[in-house]
Amino acid sequence: MCAHTWRIGLIGFGNVGQGFVRILARKAETLRERYGFEFKLIGIADPIKGSVYDPEGLDPKTLIKLIDEKGHIKDYPAGRKDIDSLTICRSEDIDIVVEVTPTNIKTGEPGLTHIREALKHGKHVVTSNKGPIALAYPELKELAASKGVMLRFEGVVMSGTPSINLALEAMAGVDISKVEGIVNGTTNFILTKMEEGMTYEEALKEAQRLGYAEADPTADVEGWDAAVKAVIIANVIMGGNITINDVEREGITKITKEDVKDALSKGQRIKLIARVVKEGGSVKASVKPERVSLTHPLANVMGAINALTFYTDHLGPVTIVGPGAGRVETGQAILTDVLAIHRHYAGR
Ligand code: HSE
Repeated sequence: MCAHTWRIGLIGFGNVGQGFVRILARKAETLRERYGFEFKLIGIADPIKGSVYDPEGLDPKTLIKLIDEKGHIKDYPAGRKDIDSLTICRSEDIDIVVEVTPTNIKTGEPGLTHIREALKHGKHVVTSNKGPIALAYPELKELAASKGVMLRFEGVVMSGTPSINLALEAMAGVDISKVEGIVNGTTNFILTKMEEGMTYEEALKEAQRLGYAEADPTADVEGWDAAVKAVIIANVIMGGNITINDVEREGITKITKEDVKDALSKGQRIKLIARVVKEGGSVKASVKPERVSLTHPLANVMGAINALTFYTDHLGPVTIVGPGAGRVETGQAILTDVLAIHRHYAGR
């Protein structure tokens, strides 16, 4: 591959942004040696953690040191601090915009505006932001195609565990009739911890501390997050055209410790199951707590681990199990998409 330095701009420096930069800080040398991948981190925009921009490149190790010691990057020792997210979307100095602001499933904002703006300005976009993909995938896909750039979003369903790229790329050519599994780390973690004796509130707090929960955890526990993922699976992977209102949805807020214990005493576990099924010409989706037998493969998926089974024509059922949330785990999703862009374009 020819030498090319990818110039990256980051919008959002919360859990996922930090996870990605942590990986860059640790693996820069390996990525260069293994993949010929060279990068410069040009700018970061985050209204809370701080913004900094330097066309010469920011040092990932310094950024991580600052965030670990001070909780923000406002004292970064170089660069401009007067930039915002739109500077990143429009900058001539940036090739890849990484959009990792918190998900808003109602409006998709501010991520939707960022992604549109970056694509319009001819940037590749990598995101783990579920809102924009669930709400506007066809429009964003077309916009990216019209600009000859890539829009990639591996992290939206199972963080760094392959799901989107697995279905679209690794299994290209199969027809998928059903996808079923556990796609929310927070709720699976809470159900697991309740079984171990924690209260619902304690378990939720722990999930927040570990960076699994959404900024507003109601999205997790009421099943909205899993429903958004079901919409993405339906529309991106299975050719559907549904919205979140089409998903039959129930969360875990009504599940008590007693329910969890009662299920166990009957050789079952309660799991929040997402299911997307192709029926005739349409695609239907649901998310609800179900009792599954302890011998069922999903029964032993515990903690923030997720699992998805794709029912395919050529391969039969294909199951992937792995982390569904977390800082570095979702940072890995960003990395895998950035490297896919590198593979696709660097040799040209
Ligand atoms: N809040 C989400 C979860 C994060 O718990 O699964 C990953 O999408």
